[in-house]
Amino acid sequence: MGKVIAISNQKGGVGKTTTAINLAASLAVLEKKVLIIDADPQANTTSGLNFSPDSDQKRTLYEVMIGKIGLEDALIQTEIANLHMVPSHINLVGFEIEMYEEDGKETALKRALDPVKDNYDFVIIDCSPSLGLITVNSLAASDSVVIPVQPEFFALEGLGKLLQTISLVQKGINPNLTTEGFLITMFDGRTRVHTQVANELRSHFKDMVFNTVIQRNIRLSEAPSHGKPIILYDVISNGTTNYLNFAKEILERNKQ
Ligand SMILES: Nc1ncnc2c1ncn2[C@@H]1O[C@H](COP(=O)(O)OP(=O)(O)OP(=O)(O)O)[C@@H](O)[C@H]1O
Ligand SMILES: [Mg+2]
Repeated sequence: MGKVIAISNQKGGVGKTTTAINLAASLAVLEKKVLIIDADPQANTTSGLNFSPDSDQKRTLYEVMIGKIGLEDALIQTEIANLHMVPSHINLVGFEIEMYEEDGKETALKRALDPVKDNYDFVIIDCSPSLGLITVNSLAASDSVVIPVQPEFFALEGLGKLLQTISLVQKGINPNLTTEGFLITMFDGRTRVHTQVANELRSHFKDMVFNTVIQRNIRLSEAPSHGKPIILYDVISNGTTNYLNFAKEILERNKQ
């Protein structure tokens, strides 16, 4: 059965897209069948995997979510054999406005994904930095949420709102949703505040914080401009090792 994991945090720039791309690629390299869905109108995952959504692109998540095409009609084969993608497009912003009064507007993605998800071992959804309708759709379609956290001073402040949204989705449209865990990203052990915030996270959320820590690594920020996951861009980098370890931790936690 395909496990659907949303990568979500309404705080911007915390490493959601980097985590979505590199977790998906690492799981695929570990011989899992993986689908990555770009659920952010910024389309950073789409371009980060070397697909440029031009203005006349008509097979993206937007067309899928408004029910114009099936999700299988939007699939793209990426450079990694086991990794497929549903791309995004700036048009996706229109979904929130156009669907405002529609019934079932929170479950459009779930309805599209349900018939396809069991073709994969994992489906990874890259969410946008918001808690709007598209993110609610992502949470409604998911089995669990990975929350990337950058260990900065304000990192913990927004988490309450995110956990509240997750709990609302659990009480309403998706009672099966769980929190997979918190992932510390862009960690720099020489920065005292990083160590402090990481310790605070672990003392508060205990084993909900993944053992794997993603270190700050310049190669991770370079890879998207080459349209590649880190493992194809620089296989011996810390970024590759960190995300492979994270993928192994996810596999370990989800062992049947
Ligand atoms: N471990 C890392 N080391 C160095 N740079 C990183 C790392 N992780 C992410 N970055 C860089 O930090 C920036 C923000 O990362 P990313 O785009 O993954 O965040 P995001 O949460 O998806 O942002 P948004 O909220 O805009 O969608 C990017 O330039 C990315 O390349
Ligand atoms: Mg992003």
